[in-house]
Amino acid sequence: MNLFNDEREELLKEAEKLRQEIRHHEYLYYVLDAPEITDAEYDRLNIRLREIEAAYPDAVPNDSPTQRVGGYANPQFTEVKHLKPLLSLSNAFSAEELRAFDTRVKEGLPQNSKIEYVMEPKIDGLACSLIYKDGVLVQAATRGDGVTGENVTANVRTIRAVPLKLKLAEGEKPPALLDVRGEVYMPRKAFALLNGQRTEHGESEFANPRNAAAGSLRQLDPKVTANRNLSFFAYLIADGTTDTQWGNVELLRHYGFQTCQDITLVQNINEAIKFIQDFNEKRQNLPYDTDGAVLKLNAVYEQKILGATGKDPRWAIAFKYPPEQAETTLESIEWSVGRTGVLTPTAVLTPVKLSGSTVSRATLHNEDFIKAKDIRIGDKVIINKAAEIIPEVLRVVADKRNGTETEVVIPNTCPECGWKAERQGTEAAIRCTNPHCPALGREGLIHFASRDAMNIDGCGPAVLNQLIDSKKIRDAADLYTLTREDILELDRMGAKSADNLITAIQNSKQNELDKLLFALGIRHVGARGAHLLAVHFGSMEKLTQATTKELAEIEDIGATIAESIVTWFANPANLDLLERLQAAGVNMQYVQKQTDNTHPFFGKTLVFTGTMPTLGRSEAQQMAIDVGAKCSNSVSKKTDYVIAGAEAGSKLTKAQELGVKVIDETEFLRLLKNK
Ligand code: IVH
Repeated sequence: MNLFNDEREELLKEAEKLRQEIRHHEYLYYVLDAPEITDAEYDRLNIRLREIEAAYPDAVPNDSPTQRVGGYANPQFTEVKHLKPLLSLSNAFSAEELRAFDTRVKEGLPQNSKIEYVMEPKIDGLACSLIYKDGVLVQAATRGDGVTGENVTANVRTIRAVPLKLKLAEGEKPPALLDVRGEVYMPRKAFALLNGQRTEHGESEFANPRNAAAGSLRQLDPKVTANRNLSFFAYLIADGTTDTQWGNVELLRHYGFQTCQDITLVQNINEAIKFIQDFNEKRQNLPYDTDGAVLKLNAVYEQKILGATGKDPRWAIAFKYPPEQAETTLESIEWSVGRTGVLTPTAVLTPVKLSGSTVSRATLHNEDFIKAKDIRIGDKVIINKAAEIIPEVLRVVADKRNGTETEVVIPNTCPECGWKAERQGTEAAIRCTNPHCPALGREGLIHFASRDAMNIDGCGPAVLNQLIDSKKIRDAADLYTLTREDILELDRMGAKSADNLITAIQNSKQNELDKLLFALGIRHVGARGAHLLAVHFGSMEKLTQATTKELAEIEDIGATIAESIVTWFANPANLDLLERLQAAGVNMQYVQKQTDNTHPFFGKTLVFTGTMPTLGRSEAQQMAIDVGAKCSNSVSKKTDYVIAGAEAGSKLTKAQELGVKVIDETEFLRLLKNK
């Protein structure tokens, strides 16, 4: 064997190991929702794998995690015949109907059959069949008419909760053929994000996560689907491999599929009804939409005895919850301005109870929505709510009008600054035309500090509004100049909260570049786009110099985003903001600061308490953060060092009680210099 072959072998081995690692971390993240590594570490694995694969393109397997988004847009979907029909479910709307179903099941089975049901959430998405041959995903198809569906393999491959390859135990052989049935759905968070983006772009919103999932799965270009954050719950194996539905669910889990956490085995119809009642409370707070619960007879043998009528099996039924709606009065409409200058109408309602909370406001989306539904002030309206999603006005109860209702006046000036507001081009949105509208700054700051952006804990709208109104800050860079005293002057702000806020602001300086890029609120640059840019350029400086062409060539960036980025960086006001953020010490690199991981403070948690002889609190915290430490304001078992100054009080006592190491400023400085 010559030298080159040796090197090829080595690298291909490394690539295979990386694939296994990446698959494992994708499984932890997308299926178990319990990641063990940071996004940056995950990216590094992918970057290395892509590097090797680029050198040996002939040796890239189709099930490599890098190959999820591949190929080109299809001119259309082809039809596929399902191996076995995808059945539907008959519905029940009451306990009586469920008992009648149970009676039918018993009547159809031998006398002393042991009847158990598997209770499952009914996911509101769309059914798909996934075919695995020898453990590898070879085809995904929509339900269609149940007999033939559409081939959506390229799109389903982009869903990270779908394994491209079954997860197998050491030495375990994959089944020759496995037909997995389940539901492609859009998590509520992804739905809110997508609709938010669509509003920003002046596009119409999707009515619900189900429609959004269907629209996203039926995209001809898999790159578009890949950006929609779809997910997948497996719930059935056609031609069950084990003897029970419960066993099949466990097998699906074993193969690395995501299945609902709430799936429960019950012994009789009373327990089934109890599950349905309890689950109605629970489902409000799930991160995905459900519209009911499904009862499935557990034993596969008994399922076969019962068979199906037409398209519905006799061994399963769906219980449908009534839609959560309420009637109330629309008192007025408020128009508010978002961070991109879009005016959004909100209905102010007579408060009404709806799915466990009191609703007094609902979204009206935009002018077209109000007109299409002929909404008038004073109308009786039906509103609906799907847990975390903001309530929406569904329709007007026109029969209840008494003639006193008034037409909605569409504003032509901005409610925040009074400048002209208008619709531009084909946009559905009305925008304020003032480029310096104060709302932009206010909303921009709220976004900057928010969780998915710079994640500054304790820096929500209430605090920011006060800081802006009292002229303590104007923009994001000013946040980093705030002193403890500035913060203590705010309403209802105690010393402890002020300290926490200062610490949170300081800690945010260490965020990776992608968080900052997202936080800046560059139009069209969402969290994912920001991440792609950070990985590609590695530093703010390089991104600043990028041309539209260069940007548009990046996979998944495209011309609109590219244009918007270049425009943003061409604005001197924005460059000034960046300069001031940099001067404040905000990290502008993607790879985490090259800290020396042998430094005594690296990865340690430090708590400062009391007054130190020479160093100010935030100054000392910054010095510690710079060498890779985390700072906190409360002492716990997880604290590594407490740095105590004069008049240190309860934190010092607690540290002593817990046996946490206590040092003074001199020792802190000595360790900091690592001498
Ligand atoms: S089982 C033979 N289980 O509901 C049974 N379906 O109304 C076939 N659905 O087309 C389906 N969650 O899209 C099953 N846990 C679940 C489900 C579920 C949602 C959907 C599925 C089906 C529709 C029938």
